[in-house]
Amino acid sequence: MEADRLLFEDWHPVAALEDVVLGREFSTRLLGRAISFARTQDGVSGTWSEEGLSKPLSIKEDYGTLWASFSDSPRALFPMPEFAESDRRVVSAGSTRVNVSGLRAVENFLDMAHFPFVHTDILGAEPLTEVLPYNVKIDEELDEVIATDCRFAQPRASATALEPIETQYVYRVTRPNVAILYKTCPPDPTRWDVLCLFVQPVSEEWCIAHTIMCYVDEMNSDEQLRRFQQTIFGQDLMILLNQVPKRLPIAPSHENPVRADVLATAYRRWLREGGLSYGAIRD
Ligand SMILES: [Fe+2]
Repeated sequence: MEADRLLFEDWHPVAALEDVVLGREFSTRLLGRAISFARTQDGVSGTWSEEGLSKPLSIKEDYGTLWASFSDSPRALFPMPEFAESDRRVVSAGSTRVNVSGLRAVENFLDMAHFPFVHTDILGAEPLTEVLPYNVKIDEELDEVIATDCRFAQPRASATALEPIETQYVYRVTRPNVAILYKTCPPDPTRWDVLCLFVQPVSEEWCIAHTIMCYVDEMNSDEQLRRFQQTIFGQDLMILLNQVPKRLPIAPSHENPVRADVLATAYRRWLREGGLSYGAIRD
């Protein structure tokens, strides 16, 4: 399948950069293959093996993340200009191994309807459980799913939110296993905080979720930012662990088009029309 070949040749997140310390050898799996990498004085290099043969891995350090590709000429990473803004904090909230397809992890990240029930009294609270209408489009040029004008009344929208606010969200899905959330930045309403879910597809039914924050925040320590995000992700983990099947069904017959699911429906359709099968159930 063409989409699976593109996936194989693309960049994938394999670690938060702050974890890739000098001199330590890392071994993990990517798309069912064993990979290893290490940082030396000359930078990070790595290898992957297939059928007993060791081959060089392409490596890139960007967006607070170590990216790897099996291709010797992978396509460019998607643009994220916020990471070049010098006053932003780039902090990893951790890398968590989960027994679901990476596509499941992305779809869960896009789910606003579960805020009051899963992230109770933080990202939502009863009785304000309604997901207000928002816009979803496919950017044909970038080949991305984009949701705009998302709003939600949140008791504690972020570590910098000192009181309940109506938080604005923009979601971008730039790759099958990459979702980016832009949300209201309480200290500076003219900018967005950026929360990245970079998912490493370990196999079709296992993934590692790397969560990277790129925030405007002079108030919290790295540890406070990390703790806030890990609380949220711990709640999502409970949902993910109960997903059946582990791969994401993307056939039209599995769709349940209610308004709250507009984004998830667009994501599944984008995957289906793109022809992806890795980590999905197509029929
Ligand atoms: Fe969630």
